[in-house]
Amino acid sequence: MPVSAAMPVATAAEPRLRISIRYKILVAIAATLLLAVGAYGYLAVELYTHDKLAYIYDANAATVAGASEEAASLLAVITKELHLFARDGLRPSASAKDRNNAVRDLFGLESDMLRLEIYAPSGKNGELRLDDSYVNKVALEATELAAADLRLLRKDKSVPFEALSGEVDVVLQNSSLPPGTAVVTLSCRNPNGKEVLVADLKHDRLLRVVAKARMHETYMVDDKGEIIAHPDATYVVGRRDVSANPLVKEALRGSVQQGVKEFVAKNGATFIGAFARVPRARLFVITQIPKAEALRATVELRNRTVLFAVGVLCAAFVVSIFLSRLLTSPIRRLRAATEIIGQGRFDIEVDVQSRDEIGDLARAFVRMGTTLRDVQGQLLQSEKMAAFGQLGAGITHEVKNPMTGIVSFAQLAQRKLDDKDKVLEFLKLIEKEALRCRDILVNFLKFARASTHDMEKVDVNGMVDNSANMLRHQLNINNVQLLTALGAGVPAIMGNAPELQQVILNLGINAQQAMSTGGKVTLATEKDAAGNAVIKVSDTGPGIPPEIQAKIFEPFFTTKPPGQGTGLGLSVSFGIVKAHKGTLGVESVVGKGATFVIKLPPAEVERKTPPPPA
Ligand SMILES: Nc1ncnc2c1ncn2[C@@H]1O[C@H](COP(=O)(O)OP(=O)(O)O)[C@@H](O)[C@H]1O
Ligand SMILES: [Mg+2]
Repeated sequence: MPVSAAMPVATAAEPRLRISIRYKILVAIAATLLLAVGAYGYLAVELYTHDKLAYIYDANAATVAGASEEAASLLAVITKELHLFARDGLRPSASAKDRNNAVRDLFGLESDMLRLEIYAPSGKNGELRLDDSYVNKVALEATELAAADLRLLRKDKSVPFEALSGEVDVVLQNSSLPPGTAVVTLSCRNPNGKEVLVADLKHDRLLRVVAKARMHETYMVDDKGEIIAHPDATYVVGRRDVSANPLVKEALRGSVQQGVKEFVAKNGATFIGAFARVPRARLFVITQIPKAEALRATVELRNRTVLFAVGVLCAAFVVSIFLSRLLTSPIRRLRAATEIIGQGRFDIEVDVQSRDEIGDLARAFVRMGTTLRDVQGQLLQSEKMAAFGQLGAGITHEVKNPMTGIVSFAQLAQRKLDDKDKVLEFLKLIEKEALRCRDILVNFLKFARASTHDMEKVDVNGMVDNSANMLRHQLNINNVQLLTALGAGVPAIMGNAPELQQVILNLGINAQQAMSTGGKVTLATEKDAAGNAVIKVSDTGPGIPPEIQAKIFEPFFTTKPPGQGTGLGLSVSFGIVKAHKGTLGVESVVGKGATFVIKLPPAEVERKTPPPPA
């Protein structure tokens, strides 16, 4: 299974529900504001409703109290004028002319009075009978009634003689003649107790008493629940019976002078009303207002609160988007930087200017990158020294063989001084062996010293061959055979030879360490289809189980006992190959060994083609 370069970066498990900070901020702000505006709006509407209802109750009570007083004084004025008439026109000594004068005076004062009737006791039992009747022609002219119509006024309503007793001074009756004129009939007794005076009045002055309030419907009813005065004249003309109205019912029950009541009308609407009795008359003033109408401002307040809340929410939406962008965009840049670090590149730059905690985090992050880069450099060096140390025996061995040769040939040459040809041959061999020593030492020295990242053209096969020379002895003394299979046409690459050698040494030593009972390690090179240089380090060891294949490139991952493994070899190698724009992967089947594959882009086309796919 090939392991891609991105594998070492651990991927966190996706949480089930992902809510971004942006939405969390939005929800938090919206919820807080909604709660605040909601609670405030609810309280305001509640208080306002409470206050408004109290006000309406008071206003109703005041309206009916005022209207009943006004009605009482109006009736008192008319009654007084009738009594004055009675005093002058009905005294026993009054002549017909006196009576006419008195009537004229009365009609002069009462321009609303259409007709006056006088009922006097007659016969043995003193039954009250119509005695005299006068028509006010001037007043009648102002209406659409004819004198003949006035006779119809008493058609279906008799004069309520019985009602005029005790507490009651005046009785009002609705005697309108539909469809025309609203007429109210007022009856009172002559203070001497004999005659009864009946005056038919235009409805106008009573109307003025009840037609004051606009929102409130104020009207007067008699003791049977029939409308006497109403701002809407059709109610009066139509002699509307409102006795079914719960408020009127309560007023007619007659136990109290005045009261307030909330009730549901026949059409289902709730009303708030009040009633008051007009003193010394069988008359009630009623006022009522639909509760919805009374609380219209409350509804308006509620609607505006909702509108306000919506407005505030919209504003909060905009603000929170702005805020969260401010907050999350540096976080996103940090995340991108984290990913770069995850890929092993530590030269990060995070463009976060803010002076807040996120800015601090970004700066700390950049510092961390720098530190990591330094530490990586140190790791590289220490791994190299470790490899160098492990190869110390190899150096000794490699140098010891040619040295032995040099020494032997030098001794042989001394003995054969006379044989010029032999000496020349031995000197050539000495030179060859000495050059080999120099090569080995120079190579090791290069490897040990080099720490620069200088890139130069590297011959892959030569570099692998050098690595094989360095490894060979270390492997041989551990019973591991080293084989090389250098392919033809492997392209040269741009790179740092000592660093690449270190990678091959790391892989070779790992392979040897994996095969405690011995085996084979093969260093092979080839050119792949894409033209890359490929270096394969394979072994015949136990292989790497799939579950740890993904982890072996992580720093400090090791399966070796403490003191034997640092877990850094593969991670450092991975970093080096990556810096060469190449890939390092592993293919392994448990029990059948492991093959580490390095792919490096060729030098010539490096600038033209993208790096090989991971
Ligand atoms: N050729 C290989 N065969 C089997 N396992 C290997 C081989 N190469 C590496 N590993 C595993 O990868 C781990 C990490 O290797 P490395 O990073 O070099 O650290 P270390 O060698 O210090 O343990 C090793 O501990 C080993 O388990
Ligand atoms: Mg190792």
